[in-house]
Amino acid sequence: MPRIPLIAGNWKMYTSLAEARTLAGAVVSACKGLTDREVMIAPPFTALATVAEVVRGSQVRLAAQNVCWEEQGAFTGEIAPGMLRELGCTMAIIGHSERRQIFGETDALINRRVAGAMRFGITPILCFGETLAEREAGQTMAVLERQVRAGLSGIAVAEPANLVLAYEPVWAIGTGKTASEEQAQEAHEFVRNLLLDMYEKSIAQQMRILYGGSVNSGNVDALLRQPDIDGALVGGASLKADSFERIIHFRQ
Ligand code: 13P
Repeated sequence: MPRIPLIAGNWKMYTSLAEARTLAGAVVSACKGLTDREVMIAPPFTALATVAEVVRGSQVRLAAQNVCWEEQGAFTGEIAPGMLRELGCTMAIIGHSERRQIFGETDALINRRVAGAMRFGITPILCFGETLAEREAGQTMAVLERQVRAGLSGIAVAEPANLVLAYEPVWAIGTGKTASEEQAQEAHEFVRNLLLDMYEKSIAQQMRILYGGSVNSGNVDALLRQPDIDGALVGGASLKADSFERIIHFRQ
């Protein structure tokens, strides 16, 4: 069974409410009639309710950019999975390199977020990727293996659609420096084999691995043509309606 490609927009800490409403409306229009791919957008928490209204009834899925593992409690600054569900969120980005690097999130913490999200029916998009120094030191695959195994430690996956992975080399994020198709495919194939080692074959083969890092309207087609690249996690180019529309309409 072929994997259904997922195009995901990570809006990071951008968009006023008015901008979020307009951009979400453009994404909904761009998706009309598309049946062979999925599209998701992850606005900042403050815009989730507004964007939820815009995407309601459409095929555009709503995601959060992070999620706590607890149902409720004294966790200042965190958002519970149930709170996201209430807004219509069905996915959450977890372990983004900006969370790891700027906010000190560890593999262990990220693993708790993945487990918590899944317990409450939120599909995690688990992000991982090496820094430039790690790549240059020849440690790329070791870093990916550590982040994927630790992030998924103790995580059972009953349905392949319940978990999404995203390879985002840190040196390619926001730099305009995309990984080549070969570099990306090599990493994705490595992670596919890890999944095959960790999960049943039918599950591992169907799980989606997205690529992220300077994806734009010019490079998306070539990236998505790679056998183990099952979609894109897009930052900057998801903030402009025309470029994200072209990415949504990628041609394999
Ligand atoms: P850019 O597409 O801006 O490089 O960001 C990628 C990213 O971090 C998506 O999560």
